[in-house]
Amino acid sequence: MRKESRRVLVIGATGQIGSELTPYLRKIYGSSNVIAGYHKRKPSGTLAKGPSVYVDVCDRRSIEEAVKKYDIDTVYHMAAILSAAGEKNPQLAWKVNVEGLYNVLEAAREYDLRVFWPSSIAVFGPKTPKYNVPQDTILCPTTMYGVTKVTGELLCKYYIDKYGIDVRGVRYPGIISSETLPGGGTTDYAVEMFYAAIEHKKYVCFVREDTVLPMMYMPDAIKAAIMLMNADRSKLTYMVGYNVSGMSFSAGELAAEIKKHVPDFEVEYKPDFRQKIADTWPKTIDDSVARKEWGWKPDWDLKSMVKDMLEKLKKKILHY
Ligand code: NAD
Ligand code: SER
Repeated sequence: MRKESRRVLVIGATGQIGSELTPYLRKIYGSSNVIAGYHKRKPSGTLAKGPSVYVDVCDRRSIEEAVKKYDIDTVYHMAAILSAAGEKNPQLAWKVNVEGLYNVLEAAREYDLRVFWPSSIAVFGPKTPKYNVPQDTILCPTTMYGVTKVTGELLCKYYIDKYGIDVRGVRYPGIISSETLPGGGTTDYAVEMFYAAIEHKKYVCFVREDTVLPMMYMPDAIKAAIMLMNADRSKLTYMVGYNVSGMSFSAGELAAEIKKHVPDFEVEYKPDFRQKIADTWPKTIDDSVARKEWGWKPDWDLKSMVKDMLEKLKKKILHY
């Protein structure tokens, strides 16, 4: 019989999501039971207070060594190359996102690991409906990142069906957070805008003012991962690639909400190559399947998120 989850490895722990997910998991399972798996950037600050280990997902041995050394039973696999960075280096995106996931799944097969692996709204493409995208829809992305996420969803499903591996995951929208800057995505403007506002600098936004994308605040992103990992497996008909919705707004609406708190905040819109990516993604997501199968419901909306982000960044950057 499977033992209770108690020894967790977070791969990609120093990234945008990992850097907040890891401390959260440490509160649940105890600091010494959650290992921060890092690659290029070593853990610092609170993240450095618990155990950490170097893991390169492209090197299966390094995953297996960490699993054996720390007697791991659950992996949160957060390592990836995101959409904009992936367009600059598609070969690396395939290697890290697909071969890396394959290595994690093989380790899961060998060592009976449970895995959380996030997909993305990048699985959708220009042929996908723009509004209220259903769970089952056209998955024809035009970015390498999207291609790797569709491949990843299929690979996970194969391992679930063939080997009975317990892999679970959601399709995250753009994640907004204050701890660590995002690592090269198309939705990065929604975080960068806050930093500019706090420092009273003009923000040059790389998408048009009317660009609407689905977004989610970090506490909801963490909540989704934990809820899904704790859900009753017998109720999960998809296991991976669950649509989850947080909020949707245009770049202009976000700037206007920030401006309510920082009246001198100014944004100039100068779309670059990321506009083309944003234009292929949907604007709103139907997450009724996640709501029905594991009780998903977001807590944050645009107004509450903006207020909280500004408070957190004021403390972090301006120290008050
Ligand atoms: P991030 O870019 O901030 O962090 C990714 C981490 O992966 C980094 O710490 C990096 O060092 C690490 N990494 C890169 N190559 C590696 C390798 N070869 N071996 C081990 N680690 C390696 O990404 P994130 O925003 O924290 O995203 C985490 C997961 O969530 C990814 O799967 C991403 O696709 C998914 N996701 C994120 C968002 C978002 O808006 N942040 C949205 C949708 C999905
Ligand atoms: N935020 C991510 C990106 O823009 C979506 O997966 O790449």
